[in-house]
Amino acid sequence: MKLSVAIAADHGGFALKNELAARLSGRYDIEDLGAHKFDPEDDYPDFAVMVARAVISGSAQHGVLVCGSGVGACIAANKVPGIRACLCHDTYSSHQGVEHDNMNVLCLGARVVGFELAVELVVTFLEAGFTREQAYQRRLEKIMAIERNELRWEERNDKS
Ligand code: RB5
Repeated sequence: MKLSVAIAADHGGFALKNELAARLSGRYDIEDLGAHKFDPEDDYPDFAVMVARAVISGSAQHGVLVCGSGVGACIAANKVPGIRACLCHDTYSSHQGVEHDNMNVLCLGARVVGFELAVELVVTFLEAGFTREQAYQRRLEKIMAIERNELRWEERNDKS
C-alpha cells in the first residue's frame, strides 16, 4: 500500500507544492489540500492547520507544507497538538528528524530550495521510520508531556 501524504502550500510555496504533488503522485497517495489556485493574499496558517488535522485524524500518515521560507508554516503546524513539524533543508535532518524525533510534518521553503532537492527531502522524510529505542521514546514522551502540561496551564489561566 502507498504511504498517504497530505500536502499544502500558500502562495509562497504554491508552484513548488504543485510540482512536488505531480512528481510524487505515482509513488505516494498524495492528498493536495490547496492552495488550488494562486492567490497572493492567502495565509499559510490556513494550510498548515489543514495538513496538521489530516495527520492527527489519520486521514494522512504524513504531512508536507510549503511556504516561502517554510518557517511560518512550521510555526503554525506546531500549534496543533500532536504535530511535530520541522523545517528541513538537508537530507540528514529530513530522515533523522523522523528516526529520532518522530517528525510527522516536513516543512519546506520554496524560496530557499530547488525542486530536485525538495523531491529528495520529501522522499527521505517519507521513507524514514521512527527508531523505537528507549532514549528516543523517552524524549518523545517528554515532548508530549510538555504539550499536555501547557494545554492544562492554558485552560487553568483561561478560567481564572
Ligand atoms: C508569504 O509571502 C511568506 O511570508 C510565507 O510564504 C512564508 O515564507 C512565511 O514564513
